[in-house]
Amino acid sequence: MVSRDIMRSSTRDFERYYNPKIGNEVRLDTNVNVLGSNPAAMSFLSGWKGDINGYPNTYSDDLRDALSDLYGLERENFVAGNGSDEVIDVAFKTFTEFGEKCAVPVPSYVLYDFFVKINGGDTVEIDLTDDFQLDVDAFLKSGAKVAIMPSPNNPTGNSFHEKDLEEILSDFEGIVIVDEAYGEYSDRSMIRRVNEFDNLIVVRTFSKAYAMAGLRVGYAVSNLNIAGMMNCIKIPYSLNMLSEKAAIAAVRDQDFIRRSHALVSDQRPRLDAGLRALGFETYPSDSNFILARSPVDHAELVSGLKKKGVMIRDFGSRRRTENCVRITVGSEELNTMLLDKTAEVIGECR
Ligand SMILES: Cc1ncc(COP(=O)(O)O)c(C=O)c1O
Repeated sequence: MVSRDIMRSSTRDFERYYNPKIGNEVRLDTNVNVLGSNPAAMSFLSGWKGDINGYPNTYSDDLRDALSDLYGLERENFVAGNGSDEVIDVAFKTFTEFGEKCAVPVPSYVLYDFFVKINGGDTVEIDLTDDFQLDVDAFLKSGAKVAIMPSPNNPTGNSFHEKDLEEILSDFEGIVIVDEAYGEYSDRSMIRRVNEFDNLIVVRTFSKAYAMAGLRVGYAVSNLNIAGMMNCIKIPYSLNMLSEKAAIAAVRDQDFIRRSHALVSDQRPRLDAGLRALGFETYPSDSNFILARSPVDHAELVSGLKKKGVMIRDFGSRRRTENCVRITVGSEELNTMLLDKTAEVIGECR
């Protein structure tokens, strides 16, 4: 049998991504919207009688128009893709030369290192400060060509200070990607500032607040120059026509996004207080999830909850999030159920 040496050296040690065995568990491990599938997108899909023989529009122009109406920008400020993961991949593909350094905060989204390496780059890990904020100097001194940071950050939940992002954008000699996958839950965004900076790319997704992860839609927003470069690199037609049309319906229903934001703002403090009462140390969150340090062994907690039909995400074996788990904020009913079952598991562990 051929050994793994046949693989490109930079990717040889890769393992598959998170792919748990799923039964009927309640999923509080992937931060999707607990209100359920996007209603406008579902209503479009159930009534659709179109033609799938032809190709979709090459660059998803109709979706980019809907987004330009939403944000008051131009169609060509946008790059649409198959999930924000594709858009992040396109950004590294467009701007990273083989062997160039790319700066990635720790802790942050675990797939960044994957995207850097599959595009030939070298990851430079930059530790966040003790309160999980950006170490601006470390980014500026990293010698990287591309820097990426999620704000709000996954898995810590907090947004980064806008003044730190500004300082990095002004002084970093390269491309800065601000990944706002959870941006709809936060009151801050860099999208309105894309024309102000030469080097800013903001990334967003329809997988979280928009409640349509299964359709895989994401987009980047940048100035016309940078977005134009990325659109030349993106795989043509990568966003299928059904997903594009469903996303357009979803963009036009901003009431759903407001309801989703309201639910999380209401329930997050309740979940946080409930977790603290059980002995967790929780971290401040600006998103639809909470990072919490467990009072019992993280792996026992996660597997105990899975046996009781609830999945949460284990970050306990990673540096800086030792013994931590990440829990999606649920509805009042879901949070009560989670807290009750968590109390049971803790009792069983002691
Ligand atoms: C910070 C961050 N960026 C990007 C993504 C990818 O989202 P998508 O489903 O749009 O590919 C995720 C998904 O969990 C995420 O947490």
